[in-house]
Amino acid sequence: MNIFSAILFLFFIVAMSASVIDKLLEIPLVEVGETWNCLLSLLDHTSLNFYIFLGIFGIIGFYGKKLLFDPLDRVRLLGDIGYQADGKWDMKEIANSVRKRRLVGEIPPVYPNGWFGLTESFRIKKGESKNISALGLNLAVFRDEKGEVHVVDAYCPHLGANLSVGGRVVGDCLECPFHGWRFRGQDGKCTYIPYADNIPDMAKVKSWPSMEINGWIYLWHHAEGIDPNWTPPELEEITNGNWTYRGRTEHILNCHIEEVPENGADVVHLRHVHEPSIAAGVDLTKMWNILWSFSHHAWSASWEPHTAPEEHISTLSISHSMKLFGKSLTPLDMNVSARQIGPGIVYLEFVSLFGKGVFIHNLTPIEPMVQRLVHNIYVSWTYPTFVAKFFMLGEAIHVERDIMIWNNKKYIDKPLFVKSKEDSVIARHRRWYSQFYSENSPRLKFQKETLDW
Ligand code: FES
Ligand SMILES: [Fe+2]
Repeated sequence: MNIFSAILFLFFIVAMSASVIDKLLEIPLVEVGETWNCLLSLLDHTSLNFYIFLGIFGIIGFYGKKLLFDPLDRVRLLGDIGYQADGKWDMKEIANSVRKRRLVGEIPPVYPNGWFGLTESFRIKKGESKNISALGLNLAVFRDEKGEVHVVDAYCPHLGANLSVGGRVVGDCLECPFHGWRFRGQDGKCTYIPYADNIPDMAKVKSWPSMEINGWIYLWHHAEGIDPNWTPPELEEITNGNWTYRGRTEHILNCHIEEVPENGADVVHLRHVHEPSIAAGVDLTKMWNILWSFSHHAWSASWEPHTAPEEHISTLSISHSMKLFGKSLTPLDMNVSARQIGPGIVYLEFVSLFGKGVFIHNLTPIEPMVQRLVHNIYVSWTYPTFVAKFFMLGEAIHVERDIMIWNNKKYIDKPLFVKSKEDSVIARHRRWYSQFYSENSPRLKFQKETLDW
């Protein structure tokens, strides 16, 4: 078909459709012609309509792509959520006031023993370093030129500069920004001083046991200096790329670290904190509003610790269904298995109508009573991105309700338990979690005396 016949064919189609519209919809041909002219003007780059159309199309395209295809990134810092608004003060002021007058209680040691997620792997590229504070430590985390990650104490023993603020990665070493001493990531030894031939044995920084797995950089922390006796298991579907990354949420909490895993063994709270639908929001004082009662979540759960050699693992099994006007929405039913691995890591694996996936949850103390909680979601290719994002958003809303409890509560070391299966599970969880504390685990009392907490 040459160009002339193609134009003729197009003209024929337009003429036909115009006359069909004229007959079927009884719109006079002249008006069809006007509409058509108006549409054509959208493609005429000399008309104003063209640029308005282009602008609207661009905005819809930008936000549409963001919504449908880009991974979620929801960050809520201390004071963004988790406190009760009073209409007078802003949330940050309320957060500070609650933090000051809040009773902490007789809390367990503040930094348990185990592996803790420091940061997501993608945040530190080859040749980059990052300053991270966690578990009372100030750390320089860097990726050497071969791609290996190292974690060392941040302060240079020469005159105390922070190696990760302005420092440079050279080979497998981190070079101090102040006078150029270089420290090897593997063992922290100083390998080069630009103005001295002899390097004293004392010239070194502490190098911490670390590992990189499932898209995270982990640090081993043990108050007795004991080497790792377990490691977080690899999720093969992430390593081999069968499950892909679809988003993250990050929350800063104001509570003792143990409050968060204990939530997993507390099956009764599911009915009180997590029953209203996610449409009811994150504010505990408003979520029982009758407006949202047409829909709710139904949960059943059980918690069990594993036996040796997996005594550092426990599993929470949850069945979830969504009810609409009292009827189950079966396609949204979900079975979840949440494996708590050590004191601060959870793999929450789920199976639903759309396929399989996992939430990786990393909980790390950044101060004695301040925790960073980061969730990443990975799903199988069958999961549309926007479904995975919606699912993650739902999970975040439930976590944010828990945060309102955690940020305001006191830790009760001798709880008033009633004789019941439900309360006895919490007691069992406390016994299980105590394995992550040891004789020299730092306590808040210690912090009070020495660090002006
Ligand atoms: S302070 Fe680091 S080299 Fe001097
Ligand atoms: Fe909860």
